[in-house]
Amino acid sequence: MRIFLDTANIDQIRQAAKLCIISGITTNPSLVSKEAAADYQNTIKEICSIIPGPVSTEVLVEGAQAMIEQGRLISTWAPNVVIKIPASDGRVLATSVLTRDNIKVNFTLCFSLNQALLGALAGATYVSPFVGRLDDIGHDGMQVVKDIVDVFNHYQLPTEVIAASIRHPQHCVAAAKAGAHIATVPYNVLMQMLHHPLTDIGVTRFLADWQSVSQR
Ligand code: G3P
Repeated sequence: MRIFLDTANIDQIRQAAKLCIISGITTNPSLVSKEAAADYQNTIKEICSIIPGPVSTEVLVEGAQAMIEQGRLISTWAPNVVIKIPASDGRVLATSVLTRDNIKVNFTLCFSLNQALLGALAGATYVSPFVGRLDDIGHDGMQVVKDIVDVFNHYQLPTEVIAASIRHPQHCVAAAKAGAHIATVPYNVLMQMLHHPLTDIGVTRFLADWQSVSQR
């Protein structure tokens, strides 16, 4: 399973890029609006210059035609931009048209296998089931991820599954076990994935043991 960072914060993206474990970035309008200098185009261009992998960028309009036009425009901002189109209704049409233009689409805000299947049939490069938001309303978000992965594998659909709306490290464990191709994680979750108290205790003990020997 690959890891994307789910943020529009440039400092976090630079920090994570140094670790060389991040393959891409996902943003959404809420994440970009949290940043002080929330100029959409400049923020996305800067992110694309830091991370060579795919950078998901959501359209900011409604209606298939407007989404198609804005998706085409955003795709010119950088070669690694992926256009995020929310699932359902006429939005699947925007996905079909953009993918036929050879523009990569992340079919986002997926909450069901049916939505993900239609996104895949429309040619989306990625579908993004939102695990945490399903859990929030008492559903089993990770089961939806697993169902999508199983069906895509069964029918050999090339669309990749991004486990999104990840809230804690156990979501990452479950996403990997469910066979998600990618988990997109907030920066704090990425840091939590790296830490384990037994590692810290072990390092402290190793160094203390070594110091006691070297002082003999
Ligand atoms: O990856 C989607 C993410 O940005 C939404 O997360 O926590 O707002 O449901 P959340």
